[in-house]
Amino acid sequence: MPTTTTQPYRPRDSFLPFSPPTIGEEEIAEVVDTLRSSWITTGPKTKVFEEQFAAYVGAPGGTSVMLNSCTAGLHVALVALGIGPGDEVIVPSLTFAATANVVEHVGAQPVLVDILPDTLCIDPEAVRRAVSPRTKAVIPVHYAGHPAELDELSAIAQEHGLALIEDAAHAAPTWYKGVMVGSRQNLASFSFYATKNLTTAEGGALTGAPELLEAARVIGLHGMSKDAWKRFDKVGSWRYDIVMPGFKYNMTDLQASLGIHQLRKLAGFHRRRQEVVAAYQAAFSNEPALEPPTERSYAVSSWHLYILRLRPQHLTLARDQFIEELKARNIGTSVHYTPLHMMSFYAHKYGFTPSDFPVALDAFSRMISLPLHPRLSNSDVQDVIDAVLDVVRTHRKA
Ligand SMILES: Cc1ncc(COP(=O)(O)O)c(C=O)c1O
Repeated sequence: MPTTTTQPYRPRDSFLPFSPPTIGEEEIAEVVDTLRSSWITTGPKTKVFEEQFAAYVGAPGGTSVMLNSCTAGLHVALVALGIGPGDEVIVPSLTFAATANVVEHVGAQPVLVDILPDTLCIDPEAVRRAVSPRTKAVIPVHYAGHPAELDELSAIAQEHGLALIEDAAHAAPTWYKGVMVGSRQNLASFSFYATKNLTTAEGGALTGAPELLEAARVIGLHGMSKDAWKRFDKVGSWRYDIVMPGFKYNMTDLQASLGIHQLRKLAGFHRRRQEVVAAYQAAFSNEPALEPPTERSYAVSSWHLYILRLRPQHLTLARDQFIEELKARNIGTSVHYTPLHMMSFYAHKYGFTPSDFPVALDAFSRMISLPLHPRLSNSDVQDVIDAVLDVVRTHRKA
């Protein structure tokens, strides 16, 4: 694997994209098989994927509900739990907008809180301080694939009678104290978006206690009574009931065709991510200008993202310029994320200022997500390391 070199720096010739999908011939053949079949939307392949994904994460009841996104899963979870106007839901400020947007969608108020400085996951003490008589749920995010503090959060939830909904968008596969995310009784929503560790282009899955999942399944498909997709099948019936005005959030068999093969490859994808991370950690750990991510002793991260933080006191350039310097060296990067309290909708609606959540603000101002995906070759990884260290060397404070 890559090492720190002493050779003069030479940028790579072609641009290294940040996070392309890893799609093989198996996925392509399965999609073609589905297209040639008489069933292209939610059907037998979605069913298989639901069961196989549930088995992989050890989901209670041995099943999951496949949906067209993690956002849909989070939305459906809130509806299934009866959360609505007048309720509050605690979410971390450092997350993708969907975590809080869905709370707005049901007419409840997202209550933003700060994060832990090492894992960048929601701070349980901040959650405890934010609980009010109106609080109904907490949505921790397994940020970048590192598990949130599930024991502490469960204890707070139990104490105050709150629901826990895991935003597991980054967490396939993530382990917390030896237990896989997705195996708990509370609802957890996974993402299979194009950049995720397992992709169906767009897609998501919900896991949780069977009775919650059944409610979620109905809410996610128009509010139709059970097994609605079977109504077009020989064993099905044209009769169905609408038990509530649900949403159109189902996954198609075309997406499941991708998912079935991505799932088979997921353990191997994860091993490759761990190898790449080990190389990055070895290269950056002794560099005072860089703060590599941490993995707590009881955690196994999915390593969805590798988030490097700069130490500005050692550098003459700030994060945005660092990204431009990497781009000039043909390395694609990203930033995950602008904290929600700095997004105009949330800042205006709730009157936030950037310093309201200082840990999120500090992390955001110093973070860069480096390329991390199974398609990276050892020489790609070396190119990233060399480019990062070259930018540091060129812009080190005297
Ligand atoms: C933390 C987090 N939550 C939710 C989502 C939404 O996922 P999806 O695009 O599958 O709706 C994402 C997507 O990037 C995410 O990163």
